[in-house]
Formats: sequence, C-alpha cells, structure tokens
Amino acid sequence: MDRPNVVFYGEEEFKLHPDVYEPAEDTFLLADNLDVHRGERVLELGTGCGLLAILAAKTGAKVVATDINPSALECARANAVAHGVAGHIDFRLGDLFEPVSGECFDLIIFNPPYLPVAPREELGGLLDRAWEAGPDGRAVIDRFLSELAWHLTTNGSALFVQSSLADVEKTIRAPKASGFQVEVMAREKLWSEELFLLSFFRSNNR
Ligand SMILES: C[S@@+](CC[C@H](N)C(=O)[O-])C[C@H]1O[C@@H](n2cnc3c(N)ncnc32)[C@H](O)[C@@H]1O
Repeated sequence: MDRPNVVFYGEEEFKLHPDVYEPAEDTFLLADNLDVHRGERVLELGTGCGLLAILAAKTGAKVVATDINPSALECARANAVAHGVAGHIDFRLGDLFEPVSGECFDLIIFNPPYLPVAPREELGGLLDRAWEAGPDGRAVIDRFLSELAWHLTTNGSALFVQSSLADVEKTIRAPKASGFQVEVMAREKLWSEELFLLSFFRSNNR
C-alpha cells in the first residue's frame, strides 16, 4: 500500500519520508495529552517526523529531539522549519539517552518501538527499528526505564506509550522500586492491542 507524503494533526500538516515512521494512533494519543508549558525543557526520544517535538516547541518549550534514524531527523528538521520553530528544537542523532548524556528535562516524551518480533539473522532496516522491539516487545522500553531517572529534573515527568503486546503490567510495577509512581493517563483499544499512555513521576511530587 502506498504511503502518503503528508500527515495531518488537526489543521497542522507534517511532511513524511519513505524511511520515517508515519504518525499513527500512538502518536495521536500522546499529542492529545501533551501538557507542556512555556520555558520547560522537553526531550522527545525517537522524534520520527517531528510532530510531537514541534507541538511542544509551539507552546514555548525548549526542546531536544533525538532519533537513531538520520532520515527522521532530516524530515523533522524540515517540518520544524515549515512550522517556524526550527530555532526552538535541537535535533540530535543517537541511541536513547546517549545524545543527552548528563542533561535533565522537565518532560520526557517517548513513543517507543514496542512490537514483539522473533529473533532473525539479518538486522532490520531503519524503518523497521521504528516498531521492532525484540521477542517480548520490551527491548527499548526496558532500557529507557532503566536510565530515565538520571534525566528527569526533581519535578520532572515522563509521558510515553506502551502496548498491551509488550507487558504493560511489568512497566506499571517497575517504578515503585526506584521511588517513582506511574499513572495511566489514557487508554485506546485498537483492533489487536490496547494502547496505554503512561506518566512516570517521583513519588513525592504529586
Ligand atoms: C514508533 S516511532 C515514533 C515516531 C514519532 N515520535 C511519532 O510518535 O510519530 C519510534 C521512533 O523511535 C526511533 N527509535 C527507535 N529506537 C530508538 C533508539 N534506541 N533511540 C532513539 N530513537 C529510536 C525510531 O527511529 C522511530 O523514529
């Protein structure tokens, strides 16, 4: 099936690229629940075409947007220029928190790869890495959770999507041991899975 060249969120148009994730229900679940304030430091991991980072930048936040896919960063940068917020987003290439080593944020947003895939000989392409997440669907999310605390300010929080295909219960149990709490902010049933929008924050902050 042919992929479209653009995607709309409300009236806002975002250009796509053949090697970049096409925003879908998971993206829009995050977008619908973004609560960003002027001056906040926001990190979006895995920005894809940049839709979420651009919405955050439009509120006056200072945004860092990363991806492991160079085509994604190129596409996101072009969209940021078209939306007039290129000067408010710092685009960085790299794996998870590696491009923001030693930095802390008020809000961290992530729509991670979460599709369980059987091990195979050859490595997937860059577009495959937008959704493939190892045999249990947790290869990226578990690494993300293990490093998250180092990158949140004292009052900071993380907002990210998880699928019922990748053991949401495990994610909900994870933070208690490290002084974090988790809240289910929204849920959406799809044909073969349910999406959960989760917020992580330090236990003494709400
Ligand atoms: C599901 S897509 C989400 C894209 C976009 N944020 C959205 O919501 O439409 C996941 C994105 O994360 C990127 N990604 C996958 N693994 C990553 C990693 N280890 N570090 C940084 N980005 C990663 C992919 O290249 C892809 O752009």
